[in-house]
Amino acid sequence: MKGGMRFTLKIWRQKDAGSEGRLETHEISGISPDTSFLEMLDLLNERLTLEGKDPVAFDHDCREGICGTCGLMINGKAHGAEPGTTVCQLHMRHFKDGETIVVEPWRAKAFPVMKDLIVDRCAFDKILQAGGYVSVRTGSAQEANAIRVPKDKADLSFDAASCIGCGACVAACPNAAAMLFVGAKISHLTLLPQGEPEREARVLALVKAMDEAGFGNCTNHGECAAACPKNISMEHISRLNREFIRASILLH
Ligand code: SF4
Ligand code: FES
Repeated sequence: MKGGMRFTLKIWRQKDAGSEGRLETHEISGISPDTSFLEMLDLLNERLTLEGKDPVAFDHDCREGICGTCGLMINGKAHGAEPGTTVCQLHMRHFKDGETIVVEPWRAKAFPVMKDLIVDRCAFDKILQAGGYVSVRTGSAQEANAIRVPKDKADLSFDAASCIGCGACVAACPNAAAMLFVGAKISHLTLLPQGEPEREARVLALVKAMDEAGFGNCTNHGECAAACPKNISMEHISRLNREFIRASILLH
């Protein structure tokens, strides 16, 4: 596109967790359609820095859709409107030339805003610390085929393991529920034989940590799965519920 694309950006600015925030307007032009959304914010920040202004704070790391660090509400949608895409993999060709784009941080009680577009996602770490692991003996290599895993279960577990912990499911949910994230961890670990010894204790610990962190509960809106950049399905929430009921009865 000759001369590049032009956008009006309305970006959430907030000095720190204790300050009030507001939308700040910036015009940006000369953007190649192949620029990623984060690269466009980089260009804006270069200009703000040269002007002696505070650059916009936003989270990012891999920029390859694998670390889960990035995450923005773009025009009210978690990671933007493109399905199965993280913000770092979203390109400006998906927007209209001259469009006004509203950029905000995740909004959830359990994810407080730290600065501008960065939220504190330690609540997810606390859930994982409560039981998002398997206790296995490490050291010597596992005998080949010593633990056989049926192909269908291995595939389901692998699908669930593709969750990158970005938090878009929470941001998209009207209840700010973390059940897609927790359901993915339960499926990932519980479907494998290695996860069996801690099966009941794990689900009870994860749900307790999820509740204590202030996340809401699922009421089947489905916004989580629609926003998930890794296409994690709601069947993992069903498994989480089944596992929770089973463990509650067995460990009662
Ligand atoms: S389930 Fe999807 S949206 Fe939620 S944290 Fe995992 S990858 Fe992100
Ligand atoms: S920066 Fe790693 S997933 Fe986007």
